[in-house]
Amino acid sequence: MDVGNPPAYVQAMRLERTLDALARDVLKRALDLDHEPEALLRTADPKFGDYQINGCMALGKRLGKSPRELAGPVAEMLAREEAIAEASVAGPGFVNLRLDPAWVSAQLNETLGDPRLGIEAADAAQKIVVDFSAPNIAKQMHVGHIRSTIIGAALVKILRAVGHTVIADNHLGDWGTQYGLLIVGMRAYGDEEALAKDPIEELERIYKLASARARHHACPACGHTANLGREPKCPACGAAKPDAGWPLTDPEFAASARAELAKLQAGDPENFALWERFVAATRQSLDEIYARLGVTFDEWLGESAYHAMLPGVVQKVLDEGIAREDQGAIAIFFGEQEGEVPPRLRKQKVPFLVRKRDGAFLYATSDIATIDYRKTHFGADRAVYVVDGRQAQHFEQLFAVARLLGHTMELVHVGFGMILGDDGTPLRTRDGGVVTLKALLDEAEEKAAEKIEEGRASGRLRIADEDLEDARRIIGIGAVKYVDLMQNRTTDYRFDYEKMTSFKGNAAPYLQFQYARCRSIFDKGEVTWDGYQAPIQARTDQELALQRELARFGDVVHRAADEYEPHLICDHLYAIAQGYSRFYTECPVLDAEGEVRASRLAITRLTALQLEAGLELLGIQVLERM
Ligand code: ARG
Repeated sequence: MDVGNPPAYVQAMRLERTLDALARDVLKRALDLDHEPEALLRTADPKFGDYQINGCMALGKRLGKSPRELAGPVAEMLAREEAIAEASVAGPGFVNLRLDPAWVSAQLNETLGDPRLGIEAADAAQKIVVDFSAPNIAKQMHVGHIRSTIIGAALVKILRAVGHTVIADNHLGDWGTQYGLLIVGMRAYGDEEALAKDPIEELERIYKLASARARHHACPACGHTANLGREPKCPACGAAKPDAGWPLTDPEFAASARAELAKLQAGDPENFALWERFVAATRQSLDEIYARLGVTFDEWLGESAYHAMLPGVVQKVLDEGIAREDQGAIAIFFGEQEGEVPPRLRKQKVPFLVRKRDGAFLYATSDIATIDYRKTHFGADRAVYVVDGRQAQHFEQLFAVARLLGHTMELVHVGFGMILGDDGTPLRTRDGGVVTLKALLDEAEEKAAEKIEEGRASGRLRIADEDLEDARRIIGIGAVKYVDLMQNRTTDYRFDYEKMTSFKGNAAPYLQFQYARCRSIFDKGEVTWDGYQAPIQARTDQELALQRELARFGDVVHRAADEYEPHLICDHLYAIAQGYSRFYTECPVLDAEGEVRASRLAITRLTALQLEAGLELLGIQVLERM
């Protein structure tokens, strides 16, 4: 289904918001308050209820009364509400609520006919730039960019689903010191034929050679060459670092790389043409990967797009008195600011560098320009940066600088942890190299193909020959995305091809299979799928349990959007898939009769629609038959 661009008139239900408003209103009336109280609604331990209201605890403190006493009349009044079957006081003053099954069913009946499946539009729609993926030119996209691409693409869809206008922007790393090295490297080592045939590989080869030549030092004692930059002693002979630092093996080469970079930045036509070739070659291979992932962008405003603004940025921070010169460089010291700065930053010694001693601008400089541009050009209310958690300090400093410059745009760093291999260290290839995104997708598709073969051989899967190719891709790529999104975003996780392609447990193939199973019930019963609708009822415990889960969909999507946590959607989809399984074992669908059969078919369809829509928000496709 298409959940993009909601019509403004849709006012579908949002269960938890409705309950929260109800609880606040009851608190106010039951206790005769003259202010708007907080209900503090939580989902409850199912043993005690569906939801719990904790607001009386806070009110007790505020009013100097016993929370249990306050909770009494609140529970009494809530119990009289149509939505509530039971309300009781518990513990030191909680109110436990059980929802009325008929009320839940009525809510679901509404969402079955709603094209947005109960995802209500946000009250205050914003214009939001989501900055994600952002790989660096002339390099393969590696595992570090996978998470940004997958999480970012999901957040774009989720934020759009709740009604925001989103600009998906690929802030490519296409400008910086590495281009000086690539230009001199291309002239020294470049092979035109190889560049035409396999551009990224050739660029990486050139870069490696150039970077070694420009950055390697030689130990004056034994002649050992390596990047000895931070080494206190030569790792080969143990000689101490000379007072003047380790000497470069080829200082002229390093200097010419810097000179070529300066020429490029000053607009030298020859260097500019070379740089354009690097960009075009990389774009081609990036486009292949994005097509495979089904990821698209509205803008490709890489670092280079801002380079003309950079001298102005430096001038501005100087004029505003935020930055000063430090050993020839221009830097912002947070401890010296007169304006407001988060206390943690104020104590920090590390400055924010906007211009190096040699005149070169930095990552930070273009990020300041980017904020300006997003405000003035797009009129953005918010910018969301989906970038590796290890860049947290950069963003903390950047956002503080934006505040010092008077920007009021909401700025959010959505960080994430690393992908680890079997051994719990960052994922690497067998020979210790960097895992490319392409290799990872290839392997996932292969694993999916194996699992599909097993399933077909055992008769559990009925994927037709002509659907096999699509199935491998949809299941393989879906598995990679889901395993990334289901994690608590900020923690590291282990990559496990076996688990992520499993048809059992919390993995994409299991959810895709449950979707196809729902559809197969309609096929078997020869019931028309499109537009099927019938009054939903709850008769058994399993039906009720599943319906309570289904009723949370809109809330879950909103919470995922508000907290930038796609995993909440994964949790929900897994819960309804499991709930459906329990329901299906206990409650015959096609063998039931009349209204009961119709209701169970409607529940089946609603479950499938939520699975499909939820997976779509995560960027994962489904198969009608599996
Ligand atoms: N290219 C950068 C990297 O690979 C990520 C850029 C993120 N976006 C930004 N506006 N800083 O680390």
